[in-house]
Amino acid sequence: MRILVTGGAGFIGSNFIRYILDGDRGIQVTNLDALTYAGNLENLQGVADHPGYRFVRGDICDFELVRELVQGMDAVVNLAAESHVDRSLVSATPFVQTNVMGTQNLLAAALEAKVPRFVQVSTDEVYGELPWFDPESPDPDAPRFTEETPLNPRSPYSATKAGADLLALSYHTTHQSDVIVTRCSNNYGPYQFPEKLIPLMVTNALEGRSLPVYGDGLNVRDWIHVSDHCRGLHLALENGSAGRVYNFGGNAERTNLQVVRAIASAVEISDELITFVEDRRGHDRRYAIDHSRAVKELGWEPLVGFEEGLESTVEWYRRHEGWWQRIRSGEYQQFYREMYGDGGRHRPPSP
Ligand code: NAD
Ligand code: TYD
Repeated sequence: MRILVTGGAGFIGSNFIRYILDGDRGIQVTNLDALTYAGNLENLQGVADHPGYRFVRGDICDFELVRELVQGMDAVVNLAAESHVDRSLVSATPFVQTNVMGTQNLLAAALEAKVPRFVQVSTDEVYGELPWFDPESPDPDAPRFTEETPLNPRSPYSATKAGADLLALSYHTTHQSDVIVTRCSNNYGPYQFPEKLIPLMVTNALEGRSLPVYGDGLNVRDWIHVSDHCRGLHLALENGSAGRVYNFGGNAERTNLQVVRAIASAVEISDELITFVEDRRGHDRRYAIDHSRAVKELGWEPLVGFEEGLESTVEWYRRHEGWWQRIRSGEYQQFYREMYGDGGRHRPPSP
């Protein structure tokens, strides 16, 4: 099997490629990645020389390139995206460009080349927010997102992801394209860019910096270890049904404050470093996933418990200080500019 993975130099993409290649699954991977601020080839060290792996630096918005790369592929797995909500509040244009236009390019090229399968990797954030429930007193009747929950995205990030999902599903309806959409809750684990909650707090804690919690810190997310997500993506790729949506969640609802306190404790620093800062605009209160369809139809379930996963993640960041220090200093971006030239379009939005 030959697959085109987009966004493979990012957090989930690099974990997914490692999962596929390390598992010796007889799959050949071409990784198309623009190496934006979030893309990092060091995330793929260890598989770079694998005979089943090829890297192409390029933009999913470049139709001619995408058209060439999909030739002979058995599937496209689209992970390329602008992925950070806070950045989408500053400038939404790159989100519309990559998440919507880029997905359209891939879908159109895959249709033209008759690629047999397309996996669109999406997020639970397309469903909007749920009413708040206290995760410390779990309520089995508290509502969760199912695949039938109407879409109600509330940030530019989630709006562009919802647009891409609908576009992908429309290709199934109108062109009978074999499209699958996966919607996953908040991931954490190795190689996550230190702008998202967990790696930001872990790296700040390791440096003794303050831990900036938005608002009252009671917003709830359902955390899933990236390895569980990658296994789900592989199962959806191999066994999913065309036109179907699959939710993946981690059975680990926590308030942000619970997460940050757990990180402070793991790093053995004082809770006093926790600082309450201005809330995010339009901050979704609660996400929670019902993933029973994935259990029933894909034989999937999350295997990594949150406490165990958080501990190993903190340990990973402890042992890979060079990796995140190089990101913080901008060293990678300078290196890629020297090595590949500067496309210029994908710099982070200016504040
Ligand atoms: P990330 O920001 O770490 O990585 C994104 C990757 O896409 C980077 O390598 C970047 O260089 C690349 N990219 C961006 N624009 C591109 C373009 N125009 N052409 C080619 N490559 C481009 O993101 P992530 O956290 O790994 O998320 C991957 C996917 O999973 C996204 O689609 C995201 O919406 C989805 N997702 C993420 C989470 C999460 O918790 N991180 C949860 C559910 C779904
Ligand atoms: P984030 O990792 O950005 O993921 P998402 O917004 O896609 O869920 O944020 C997770 C939660 O953590 C969210 O409720 C916002 C909150 N948060 C903070 O409180 N402080 C921070 O510095 C960041 C980045 C996030």
